[in-house]
Amino acid sequence: MAEDGERIEALLEGMTLEEKIGQLTMLDAGRLITGPGRPVDMIVAVREGRAGSLLNLVNPAEIRAVQRVAVEESRLRLPLLIGLDILHGHRTLFPLPLAEVAAFDPDLWRRTARAAAGEAAADGINLTFAPMLDIARDPRWGRIAEGPGEDVLVARRFAEAKVKGFQGDDIAAPGSLAATAKHLVAYGAATAGRDYAPVDISERLLHEVYLPPFHAAIQAGVAVIMPAFTDLAGIPMSANVAVLRDLVRKQWGFDGVIVSDYDAIPELIKHGVAEDLAAAAALALRAGIDIDMMGGAYEHGLPIALKRGSSRIEDVDAAVRRVLTLKARLGLFHAPDKSDGLQASDPRRHETNRSLARDAARRSIVLLKNERPLLPLDPGVKRIALIGPLIDARADMLGPWGALGKPEHAVTIHDGLKKALRAAEIVAVEAIDVQGRDREGIRAAVETAATADVIVLCLGEDRSMSGEAASRAHIDLPGRQQDLAVAILALRKPVIAVIMSGRPLVIERLVERADAVLAAGFLGHEAGHALADVITGRWNPCGKLPVSWPRAAGQIPIFYAQRPTGRPRDPEDYFTSKYLDIPNEPLFRFGDGLSYTTFAITGLRAQATKLGPTDEIVVDVEVSNEGPRDGEETIFLFIHDPVASVSQPLLELKDFSRIALAAGERGTMRLRVAVKDLKHLDADLRPVLEAGFIEVLVGTSADRARLHRLTVEINLEAPAPRP
Ligand code: BGC
Repeated sequence: MAEDGERIEALLEGMTLEEKIGQLTMLDAGRLITGPGRPVDMIVAVREGRAGSLLNLVNPAEIRAVQRVAVEESRLRLPLLIGLDILHGHRTLFPLPLAEVAAFDPDLWRRTARAAAGEAAADGINLTFAPMLDIARDPRWGRIAEGPGEDVLVARRFAEAKVKGFQGDDIAAPGSLAATAKHLVAYGAATAGRDYAPVDISERLLHEVYLPPFHAAIQAGVAVIMPAFTDLAGIPMSANVAVLRDLVRKQWGFDGVIVSDYDAIPELIKHGVAEDLAAAAALALRAGIDIDMMGGAYEHGLPIALKRGSSRIEDVDAAVRRVLTLKARLGLFHAPDKSDGLQASDPRRHETNRSLARDAARRSIVLLKNERPLLPLDPGVKRIALIGPLIDARADMLGPWGALGKPEHAVTIHDGLKKALRAAEIVAVEAIDVQGRDREGIRAAVETAATADVIVLCLGEDRSMSGEAASRAHIDLPGRQQDLAVAILALRKPVIAVIMSGRPLVIERLVERADAVLAAGFLGHEAGHALADVITGRWNPCGKLPVSWPRAAGQIPIFYAQRPTGRPRDPEDYFTSKYLDIPNEPLFRFGDGLSYTTFAITGLRAQATKLGPTDEIVVDVEVSNEGPRDGEETIFLFIHDPVASVSQPLLELKDFSRIALAAGERGTMRLRVAVKDLKHLDADLRPVLEAGFIEVLVGTSADRARLHRLTVEINLEAPAPRP
């Protein structure tokens, strides 16, 4: 590393201003479209040292060719950063993040990122714009699909797992990518759920909820950070000195690279804080943005800003130093190609990754309702009607960030059920389009369904309806799908509803009338096999919702960790916090998710109930599998501080863990939280630990009434010396 440091200093000394700015410029090769790009001649730019990194280049031969131009034909022979959005798989697609979070399995989150990194590195990519760590409590916002859901602890664990997965133990090793924690910060709080809209939240919310996942990513060693497109109370994130420079760099000690979002630096002009490109460039550089992604602001604006005296060459040098250090950390100076030696689509890799994708997909499915119980399906069932616009929607299975995943390799629910239920007759009718206005096909679907023993009704969104720039004001079933559901449910046959979507949907009427409901998100290439595994009972579902599902869009923002009100809802008292027309509770809560077996939780106990500031709350519970099948259950530990100097959320997740139990088996589960992690922000936003009683609530979802509880006492006096 010392050797790299010297080399970087020597390089800096010999670089022209144009070459320095080149290292700070990321150009779009345009092979995938992820923003309003303009075509560029990247080969010429790379040869002339005007681009130090590229994005959206996907063909391995092309990547290697341009990397060769960089290291052989450019004057300084500097390797390129090659970036791509690899959020949940590169060629093999795993479940979309919001779906995969439902597995509540950090090791799985790590392994799928590792597998994706291996495939991408084999193609010559060395940087991913992931993980996306934006907590979202507003399902109108389409980008909720890309992230970890509503909870802070889950988002922090997701951040750590994904950074470890993408970067591995050694970021320089073959098969490792540089990860990007994005989009700093509070992008998920965009006004009214409209993408790119202004963000104006309290400092408290910022520090309690939106910042911690980024801090966790930095502590896990994330190499790159990307600021959000949005502003924060009037200061656009691409120019936000307080967050980027003072908090992230100075206070948190982040010394990696900050890359702007796509075209975000010139957008400072539209935000109304810069009069021209040079002013925008100066603001971004001053805040600490090292790389300008496709904005052209550094290339065209920085030379002017330097002349005007609004930028300093020392800041340019510092940014170049950070970019070159990242290239050195990645090992690119020694070997610009980070392939692990196996081609991306090598059959051995393909097979391992497909089996991981199937496991990840079935672990991501959440069983929300199961009456009779209809699921798992009776193996003797003869005729199944598979109805709905998503039954054969191959491309949609890959979700809004499909990377290089080939739709033709995706397994749909139709494929999966045909393969799993060879003895049954499956009649399939798409009936209508996902978003179409035409009702024509509904009649034929009803006629077909009327002849079946069981109906599998597959509804939801297509892949274009979530992700970037895909906010929705009505988050119910799009197009004519509600009409289709009503017509099918009127048959009064057994109905399993399978919901595929990038966000929670408002589906109360459907849920009331269907016998079974599965939330399937977008599950990736193995979607159909995973769904068939769950429907046939080959896999016992264990997914849990990482985000609340509202009854109505009017409940948004909706999340479990709400603070108390002085007038909690009381049906006997009019002047209490309620809606006149619907209950306060969501349709499904954070943590909801059923199994084909039943788990009983008993015997909650704490190792100690009087604790000092350096202690840890350690609790045990017995979990017994009382049903007929093997299964897995996730147990959550929440806390509540009933009396504090600042009102605390009614429930706050502090630990979770999973246990696998055979039918009839019983096990002990241990959960823990360090007393120092009970600190909250006081009235001046300083972290404090306060003495007093803390409720510890343990159970299978954020349903307060069903949690087991005990109380511990926190004492701030110095602990008595142990004998
Ligand atoms: C998105 C980022 C993404 C970038 C590059 C932007 O539009 O906001 O999440 O990484 O494009 O594709």
